This record gives sequence, C-alpha cells and structure tokens, in this order.
Amino acid sequence: MNEMRAYFAREIPGINGFLAAEADKLDGLVREVARHVLLSGGKRIRPMLTILFARALGHKADDMLAIACALEMLHTATLLHDDVLDQAETRRGQTSAHVAFGTTETILAGDVLLALANKLGADYDIPRLNALLARGIMATAEGEILELAHTARPTVDRQAYLDIIIGKTARLIETACRCGAALASRDRAMEDLAGDFGLNLGIAFQLVDDALDYAVSESEMGKPAGGDLREGKMTLPLILYLESLPEAQAAGLLSALREKRLGADEATDIVAQVRDKGFAEATRAAARGYVDTALAALAALPETPERVVLCQAAEYVLTRRK
Ligand code: IPE
Ligand code: IPE
Ligand code: MG
Ligand code: MG
Repeated sequence: MNEMRAYFAREIPGINGFLAAEADKLDGLVREVARHVLLSGGKRIRPMLTILFARALGHKADDMLAIACALEMLHTATLLHDDVLDQAETRRGQTSAHVAFGTTETILAGDVLLALANKLGADYDIPRLNALLARGIMATAEGEILELAHTARPTVDRQAYLDIIIGKTARLIETACRCGAALASRDRAMEDLAGDFGLNLGIAFQLVDDALDYAVSESEMGKPAGGDLREGKMTLPLILYLESLPEAQAAGLLSALREKRLGADEATDIVAQVRDKGFAEATRAAARGYVDTALAALAALPETPERVVLCQAAEYVLTRRK
C-alpha cells in the first residue's frame, strides 16, 4: 500500500487547505462548527476517489480540488446531521458537533455545507456534475430515512440491510468516483465503470464499518464500540448473530430492540458474543466479495499510477481499523 500512502500524503494537504479556506468564509454562527468537523482528520476517501478517477481517465487540468472537496463537504454534512439523528456524542475522536455547539448550529452548518458543495459543483458549468451531486444527495437522504424506519421495526432481512447501506453510504462513494470520471470525459461508459467501482467499494466500506463497530475499541476507531447495537441498528454482524440463536431467543432480542429496552449489561454481553463468535469477521469476509467486484471494474482502466492507487485503496477498505 506504499503507493497509496504516498499519493494520499501528497494530495491531502491541498484538500485540507481548500476546506479550511472555504470554512473561513462562512458566517460566524456556523464557521466554528464547520471548522470543528471539517478539520478533525477524516480519512478523505471520497475527495481522493474523485481526484484519482479524474486523473486515471486522463484529466490534466489542475481544477479538480473544488469538486473533490464538494464530495467531502457533502459527506461532512451527512455526518453532522447523522450524529444528531443517532444522538452520537463522539465523531472523529472528538466531541460531536451538536454536543459541542448545539443542535441548531449543527443543523445549519450541515445545511450550509450541502449548499456550498452544490455551488462548488455548479461553478464548473458541467451539467452532468450537478445531476450526479443531486442524485448522490438524494440517495443518501433516502438511505438515512430507510434506516430510521427499519430501526423502528427491525427485522432480520438482509435485503433491507443492503438497501440501507447502499443508500446511506455507497451512493455517495459512487458519486465521488463518477464525478471524477465526469470531469475527465463525457464518455458515459467510463463513468459507469467508475460508478461500478464506487458502488461496490461503498458497500464494502459500510460492511467493514459495521464489523468494526463490534470489533474495535473507541481509541482506534474514533467512535465508541457497540454504538450500533445501542442505537438499535440492524447491521450484518447482528443479523448473523440473530440467525444463530434459537427462534424464541431471537424473537425476544428483536422485540427488546424494537421496544428500546435492551439493558446496558445485556448490550455489552451481546457485543462480546458477536465478536467472539466471529460474526464481525464474517461481515468483513462478506465485504471481500464486493471489493473483488470493485477491482474487476478497474481492469478496463488504462494502466496509470492512479489505477495502482485505486487497487490499493480497495484493499485498504477491507483491512482498515478506523
Ligand atoms: C463515516 O465515514 C461514515 C460512514 C459512511 C461509515 P468515514 O469512515 O469515511 O469517515 P471519516 O471521514 O474518515 O471520518
Ligand atoms: C453512516 O451512517 C452514513 C451517513 C452518515 C449518512 P452511520 O450512522 O452508520 O455511521 P457512523 O457510525 O455514525 O459513522
Ligand atoms: Mg451514526
Ligand atoms: Mg446513522
């Protein structure tokens, strides 16, 4: 993964500089909220994917930072809003914005970042970029809505889970890849290839995230372990655990989740069992299949340093611990 690390290390300062400059232009009411979250060390996967696909498809101009950062802003806006929805108190190893600055300021900061991302995209005057951003935002919101409804009435339904993670996570990662491709060329077949890669990588990304939630400590991941169970989220590790239980016990746990009466000790015990019985690892193994599909899409790309980095990024998604 050395090429990937070197490539990211070279590009991320530019991304961070652009984000900081944009945050500084915001109104005082939301500026600190935006700075707090934008500059707290995210992995910058989405903007990197945009840059990588633009260059992999031959884009030479130095104008890709704005669209790349638009993708990071969209992601950041969803994180601000998501932590309100999930009542999550930690993000990127820090107190989450709504706890530090208040819910009103945080919702507004999320809104302004959404708007700014659209503006940055529109300034290219490439209609396809606007369409891609709009669809990515819509799919993300729909995924969050689906998840909210599903959390109120949890079931052991793998297709419902897949629909949720495609919506809330994979579509935006797909959008990041498609935007890079659309900046480089009008060739829709190439954009679709980038989209295939991104969609499958995005599914794997969320599967691994859901595995990590059961398997990795807060100090490593930057958000508390076992959070998904406490939030009542039906993710693959929990689905696999429920499928392994005798029917009556599974039904009991499902109704405890639905009625939000799972005790703290019981939750801690279930998290340990999910981990010890290998269901977090099995979830990571499921992600492998999606990474392989993503990698297959790259085969049609010209041989460039960016293609090498994209391959390594796909492997990284699988092995990451934060
Ligand atoms: C977190 O995304 C939200 C999910 C889609 C799981 P990332 O893991 O990319 O978050 P940062 O940007 O690195 O903090
Ligand atoms: C990730 O949602 C996707 C979005 C933020 C839209 P989650 O709620 O699963 O992610 P974390 O665990 O808060 O990062
Ligand atoms: Mg959340
Ligand atoms: Mg959420």
